[in-house]
Amino acid sequence: MNWGMKNRLSRIIKPRSGRCVMLAVDHGYFQGPTTGLSNISETVEPLLPYADALMITRGAVRNWIDPAVEIPIILRVSGGQSILKELSNEIITTNIDDAIRINATAITCSVYIGGEYEKQTIDNLSKLVDEGEKYGIPVLAVTAVGKEMVRDARYLALASRICVEIGAQIIKTYYTEDFGKVVEACGNVPVVIAGGKKLPEKEALQMTTNAVSDGATGVDMGRNIFQSDSPVGMIQAVRAIVHEGKSLDEAYEIYKSLK
Ligand code: R5P
Repeated sequence: MNWGMKNRLSRIIKPRSGRCVMLAVDHGYFQGPTTGLSNISETVEPLLPYADALMITRGAVRNWIDPAVEIPIILRVSGGQSILKELSNEIITTNIDDAIRINATAITCSVYIGGEYEKQTIDNLSKLVDEGEKYGIPVLAVTAVGKEMVRDARYLALASRICVEIGAQIIKTYYTEDFGKVVEACGNVPVVIAGGKKLPEKEALQMTTNAVSDGATGVDMGRNIFQSDSPVGMIQAVRAIVHEGKSLDEAYEIYKSLK
């Protein structure tokens, strides 16, 4: 791995703990104005001090994020579909030149293993990895599941491993029972979990605790933070689990005390 690639990765995965808390606010690329993200600046500004990286599209970063912020940007460079249509029909929407102009620390796309457009999305990932390798920019691959797919360890290990084999430097997937098998399938490539649909706060913190104890490097969480009744409390509670090894009860107390 070249110096630039290592340097960018260590801006996201903090060397002190070897872990990371990414805040995902890229939902609009296929969901439109998702609850909590109508005005991204208002949602994100109080959370930035507690996030290690921000996952966002180029349009959103330019519209809602102050360029003076220090947060590393994980740039969502894919899209082309909407919730109204086949989700796996995804293309690359942003070229590497624009990602570099934005000063992206990493770039990201989704891969729909088993989806109608599986090959097209694997091709997207392989092109991003080639471009990323050229400029020392890591690629985060999201194992998207589409509407129908079962999220069990067997499926997620298959999807995650394919992304590793294509060359992704970070894998984002979903938490499931036997999550250790998913982590194991990825070898030395760090794995982070998405939060998925909004859960009661204690359940989301339980999922975070389980994921980390099963070997996840951290989270790339969106709705379970910004749709919480206390987004700042939630991100600090998640952070306490991921970076400080706090227990579920300790983290839940942090959330409650900040609520
Ligand atoms: C999914 O493909 C997008 O990257 C989502 O924005 C991301 O997974 C959302 O995170 P969460 O599921 O925690 O809201």
